This record gives sequence, C-alpha cells and structure tokens, in this order.
Amino acid sequence: MPTNEAEQAAMHRALALAETVRGRTSPNPAVGAVVIDADGRLAGEGATTAAGGPHAEIVALRGAGPAAHGGTVIVTLEPCAHTGRTGPCTEALIAAGVARVVYGADDPNPEAAGGAQRLHEAGVDVVGGLEVHAAASGALRPWLHAMRTGRPYVTWKFAATLDGRVAAADYTSQWISSAASRADAHRWRASVDAVLVGSGTVLADDPHLTVRENDVLAEQQPLRVVLDRRHRLPDDARVLDAAAETVVLDTAVPQFAMKALYDRGVRHVLLEGGPTLAGAFVEARCVDEVVAYLAPRLLGAGPTALGDAGIGTLADAVMLEVESVTRLGEDIKVVGRPRWTDQTAGD
Ligand SMILES: NC(=O)c1ccc[n+]([C@@H]2O[C@H](COP(=O)([O-])OP(=O)(O)OC[C@H]3O[C@@H](n4cnc5c(N)ncnc54)[C@H](OP(=O)(O)O)[C@@H]3O)[C@@H](O)[C@H]2O)c1
Repeated sequence: MPTNEAEQAAMHRALALAETVRGRTSPNPAVGAVVIDADGRLAGEGATTAAGGPHAEIVALRGAGPAAHGGTVIVTLEPCAHTGRTGPCTEALIAAGVARVVYGADDPNPEAAGGAQRLHEAGVDVVGGLEVHAAASGALRPWLHAMRTGRPYVTWKFAATLDGRVAAADYTSQWISSAASRADAHRWRASVDAVLVGSGTVLADDPHLTVRENDVLAEQQPLRVVLDRRHRLPDDARVLDAAAETVVLDTAVPQFAMKALYDRGVRHVLLEGGPTLAGAFVEARCVDEVVAYLAPRLLGAGPTALGDAGIGTLADAVMLEVESVTRLGEDIKVVGRPRWTDQTAGD
C-alpha cells in the first residue's frame, strides 16, 4: 500500500525528532520514530537515546503502549535486526503487534541490515524509501557515511576574511567573524562526536574546544582531539583540562587518525584546525563537508584558510557542490560538499 498524508506528516516529525539527538547517539545513528494508532492518531514518538539505551522505535513504542497494536510505525532508518547492546527493534515491533512499518533510508550496516525482510516475513506490511533523500541528508548523514566508508564524516569549518585569511600577519585570529557566526559555529560543535585541531592552533590560540550554554559547560561534550606529531603540546594547554575528554594523536596520516576515532565510536568529526591540517585533510580526501564563514573584512596578509593540499594546477581544484549560502549578521556562510564525497561515500 502506498504511503498516505498522515504517514508523510509523521515522517517529517520523525526527521525533526532525529535532529534533536544529533551528536548524542554515536556509535548508533540519530533516528526518529513516530507511532500512529489503528485510527490514524498520533500514539507515541521518540528518538535514539545515548549508546546502550533504547533505539528510537523502542522509545516510540513505549510511549504508545497498547495503542501500537494494529498501528503503524514511521521511522527514519530501517529497523535493525540484530542484537547489539539492546535487542533487535524488529522483534519489539512484532511483539507490539504493529501492522505496518514505513521507513526512510535502508540500513547499510551489514550486521544490522535485513530488518525490512524480517518484518515482512513476520507478516508486517513494510514500505521503505519514504523521504529517503531528506533522511539520508539529515541527521543520518554522518552515520551513513561512516558505515559505508569505515571512517567518520568530516566537516571542516573555518572563519575567514573576504580575502581568505584565517588570521592576521601577527597571528591574531579571534573574532574574525560576527557574533552570529560564532554562535552558529558553536552549535555545530554541539552536534558532533569529536572536535579536531592541529598543534599549531593550540600553540597559537590555546582554544578550550568545549560546548557552553549561556557560558556554562554543557553536560555533554564532544571528544577533543589534537594531532601533534612532534609532541609540542604544552602541559598547561586548556584543551588538556578536565572539562571534557581529550585525545592527543601523533600519527602523521589523517586516515589513521580517522580510523582510530572510528574505532572509539566517533561518527562525525568537526575539523576546526588551521590551514596546515586542513591542507593535509583535503589532500587525503578526508573532508566531506565545508562550512565557511566569510566576514566582510580584508587583511592582505596572514595565513589563508587552506594550506598546501597537493594541488598544482587549476584543473585539479577541488570542486564543491554548494548546499547553502546564508547571511549571518554581516557574514556570509557557505556550506558545500566536495564532489568526491559522492564517489567515495555514495551519499
Ligand atoms: N579562523 C579560523 O577558522 C581558524 C581556525 C583554526 C586556526 N586558525 C589559525 O590558524 C593558525 C594556525 O595554523 P596551523 O596551520 O599551524 O594550525 P593547525 O593546522 O591546527 O596545526 C598544524 C600542525 O598540526 C600538526 N599536525 C599533526 N598531524 C598533522 C598532519 N597529518 N598533517 C599536517 N599537520 C599535522 C603539525 O605540527 P606537528 O608536526 O608538531 O605535529 C602542524 O604544524 C593560527 O593563527 C590560528 O589562529 C584559524
């Protein structure tokens, strides 16, 4: 049976629920789910809880209680069919007597896939692919990418003047962008699993790399990661304090660093480093998304956003698919995705 309007509306709600748990579910995906009872009324809803806790479908089923019997579950990702730290969602859906499951993206995780098949075999009416583009390019995107590639999704974020400088000739760099841009950048930090810089940024700026809400440390903090091949990090660097967990890696190879973070359960990395590390990551094709805050200022000297990325001629320039251009205060925010992402990540 094709999907109806109520199910489409429920999927929009499920997508919005998934957004609320970005950065809080890894290594599990950020999923949203809604239960509609047999009469088409909203009976329950939920989103993935922290790792080890219930998945979105389970939260929504608990909210619905007996009303789930004969009802429909709308969920952004195909329900999992495997036992991890929690039981398979497919079995909970079958036990609750759900008549129909409508989901967005297929689960590419070989250990957990097969959920749709299992439900179908148990007599549940299953429809996949509803709002699949919105699902795959929303809160699920980092996780889907990580599942397909075996490394975290990397968002490279920087603030630059209109002539592309991320610091002045004297290396002063704070407040290049507007307050609105800085607040926006801070929200990015709250939505990822790890924040990454090179030793150069720590030595120049001594950043704290934490998430603060009204100047108070947020309860949940991303992992702080510093790449420091030559062990130049000073013992009193603010990034080493107890406000959040910090990992210092001395590997020279971005792919190895990404693998190490993946193995720790990191699925989304925010690269906040300077031009040297950004160059190394672009050269290694380890950048999946670029977020640039461009301030209407000119410096004429000082480091530019991207250091040497091994590109010698215009024909080899990295092309970006621009996703959005937004005004933030006086600044312009550009979000783009390198074209290679489509080839290597398949999303
Ligand atoms: N406006 C902005 O958005 C923004 C953001 C960040 C930084 N900045 C500015 O950028 C400047 C710092 O630039 P930066 O380029 O020195 O910072 P960086 O890219 O954060 O750090 C560079 C250092 O990272 C280390 N590193 C570790 N592994 C590496 C690898 N695989 N490839 C390359 N480097 C690796 C290297 O030091 P070792 O060899 O010792 O490991 C390298 O010198 C400062 O002025 C800062 O204010 C601006």
